Amino acid sequence: MVIEEKWFTLKDGREAVIRSPREEDIDGLLDYLRISAGETEFILRYPEECGKYTYEGEKKLIEEWTVSEDICMLVCVVDGKVAGNCEVRRSKNLKTKHRASIGIALISEFWNLGIGTQMFEELIKVAKGWDDVIQMELEFVEGNSRARALYEKMGFRIVAVHPNAIKTKSGKLLNEYLMVKEL
Ligand SMILES: CC(C)(COP(=O)(O)OP(=O)(O)OC[C@H]1O[C@@H](n2cnc3c(N)ncnc32)[C@H](O)[C@@H]1OP(=O)(O)O)[C@@H](O)C(=O)NCCC(=O)NCCS
Repeated sequence: MVIEEKWFTLKDGREAVIRSPREEDIDGLLDYLRISAGETEFILRYPEECGKYTYEGEKKLIEEWTVSEDICMLVCVVDGKVAGNCEVRRSKNLKTKHRASIGIALISEFWNLGIGTQMFEELIKVAKGWDDVIQMELEFVEGNSRARALYEKMGFRIVAVHPNAIKTKSGKLLNEYLMVKEL
């Protein structure tokens, strides 16, 4: 899916754009995937697991998702740099096509500037445009108070806990929380 570009002003006064990804974003996306993986325990990949992401792989994904009616991926670009991305996807299965799931992450230098809020507004708009979808879902890792605050602000509530869903390299076990927003 492709959406119209959305320009907005960050909390630090810079201009940013949220839009569908293009081939010119691929190098920035690969940097973002690797950098963000090393900056927080709250996303599900370590930097050494990012070797599987390649220019060609990302290009194929962008091409597929551009024409897909079921997935909308967005990037935020600030001063020519990919700050992060997000996506919403609806299930294709008959029994679950009323549900849409969300993923989002930004490089740390772009946290707390309002990008997550703007991205969520776009993702919610996309999900509301899908006739069958009646609820949006996401998970966050225990301790991710910034993500939780954002999700609650956007109307999501915790409905379940997945005990010990994450085990970090240091052996720490962390719960994951499932949140839902009815549309
Ligand atoms: C989580 C994330 C996507 C949020 O995006 P963001 O652009 O930083 O979010 P915003 O700036 O739009 O909003 C963050 C809100 O949380 C609040 N906040 C920030 N830190 C907080 C904290 N420690 N506790 C509670 N609230 C906090 C901010 O004040 C802001 O609320 P406001 O808009 O009412 O002032 C981003 O920080 C990120 O990529 N983090 C690392 C990866 C990650 O955790 N991804 C989510 C996996 S589930």
